[in-house]
Amino acid sequence: MKPFASHFFFPLLLLQFSLLILQNDSSYLIYGEALSKSILFFEGQRSGFLPNDQRMNWRGNSGLGDGSSANVDLTGGYYDAGDNVKYGFPMAFTTTMLAWSVIEFGEMMPPPELRNALVAIRWSTDYLLKTVSQPNRIYVQVGDPIKDHNCWERPEDMDTDRTVYVVDAPSPASDVAGETAAALAAAAIAFGPSDPGYSRTLLTTATRVFEYADRYRGAYSDNADIRTGACPFYCDFDGYQDELLWGAAWLRRASDNENYLSYIQNNAKTFGADDNINEFGWDNKHAGLNVLVSKEVLGGNVYGLESYRASAESFMCTLIPDGSSSSHIAYSPGGLIFRPGGSNLQHSTAISFLMLVYAKYLERVPDSVINCGNISVGPAYLRGMAKRQVDYILGENPMGMSYMVGYSNRYPQRIHHRGSSIPSVWNHPQPVRCKEGTVYYNSSSPNPNPLIGAIVGGPEEDDEFGDDRADSSKSEPTTYINAPFVGVLAYFAANPNPS
Ligand SMILES: *[C@@H]1O[C@H](CO)[C@@H](O)[C@H](O)[C@H]1NC(C)=O
Ligand SMILES: *[C@@H]1O[C@H](CO)[C@@H](O)[C@H](O)[C@H]1NC(C)=O
Repeated sequence: MKPFASHFFFPLLLLQFSLLILQNDSSYLIYGEALSKSILFFEGQRSGFLPNDQRMNWRGNSGLGDGSSANVDLTGGYYDAGDNVKYGFPMAFTTTMLAWSVIEFGEMMPPPELRNALVAIRWSTDYLLKTVSQPNRIYVQVGDPIKDHNCWERPEDMDTDRTVYVVDAPSPASDVAGETAAALAAAAIAFGPSDPGYSRTLLTTATRVFEYADRYRGAYSDNADIRTGACPFYCDFDGYQDELLWGAAWLRRASDNENYLSYIQNNAKTFGADDNINEFGWDNKHAGLNVLVSKEVLGGNVYGLESYRASAESFMCTLIPDGSSSSHIAYSPGGLIFRPGGSNLQHSTAISFLMLVYAKYLERVPDSVINCGNISVGPAYLRGMAKRQVDYILGENPMGMSYMVGYSNRYPQRIHHRGSSIPSVWNHPQPVRCKEGTVYYNSSSPNPNPLIGAIVGGPEEDDEFGDDRADSSKSEPTTYINAPFVGVLAYFAANPNPS
């Protein structure tokens, strides 16, 4: 327990103090602290050579030979979750969401946190640039997941096969390439003000990667060589068309290029943008795509995109818990958005983000509301729904615990995460080999290394949470749970009581 003490004791004192003197601003400190931690988490997921200013200081260098088996430098990037594999598909989505967080809410972040958020994006974009450095080729994954998952090893000790998975034209990878184009284009916007040179590199590369995605259409995981690595973990289950529209929509926003506008106008129907698919996550981009494109519609003078706005509003209507005629989504008795399939908090964080972004766009049109059957809702209502999710995640829930590691005095102690659960390389320099780690996996003790800011998969539909390392669907953090939450927390840190 010792390593945890210093992390929560000080903020608690601060909080009590602030309640005495700054009654109205106390929640600023609370959401602001969660914001800092949500960004810090990404340092714990880093692969590659760590810089001197690494703050998650129980980590060390790892994956320094990544790519060498294919004579290419693929060091860097992020491990997706509690294992040591680098999956391009969810990493690109994570990057898009971090960048979108900065684009919409970066101005609300305290300057040091904006800087940290940009560093977190760049750790990933530097890697993504390596994966597409050669024309008509994309490296989509590093690490054999079967061998990796069979071991309980720190990333610093990793000795399993670092298989390099690559797709070459004319084989398609419209999903990973489309999402990578989206990530690079979104990051180009995020870096525009602070690093215009890097921003241009990102945009130029995004344009080229999108051409590959669009010219050779198909799913990367239909390729037999890729399938063995990507599936069943990050298989493309639901088609690649959404990533083509999503990539084009981000390129449109980053470049103002009319060709991308025509692309999303002309392909909306054939690619299913207006099929009212109410999902948003690393595999399915529909709800996010519709919200993103709605900005153009709500902004005024662009035509031919109204179906995106209609779909975005129909999605918002499904979220209303008041028993309106159009609500569809399930909530736990404690009020958490719930979808079956594990890692449920990914839905809560991503959907909360979309609610806040749509509220922001909607506000551009005076007195605008969304008509949902027998009720109408406006921006304040959407923000209230998002706040309910955030407060649930941070502790207002039937378990009375925060689902963010290191936040509040009660949070998950046994997260499903190799690096966090095995003594760190600094305290235990001898290697812990594949099966030697099982003793730590099996242990009922708290993890020795706090992965501060990590949000775990979270409770089931009954609001119960067992804090069990073996129950990965509840106790494993992922980068794409945290990424949209960075934007959400930036908003609430600046607007703790939105109206
Ligand atoms: C709206 O309609 C639903 C289902 O038809 C009904 O259950 C609900 O009470 C109505 N809500 C309001 C505010 O009238
Ligand atoms: C870990 O737990 C499993 C299942 O309970 C058991 O079979 C195994 O022997 C344990 N291994 C170690 C090293 O504790």
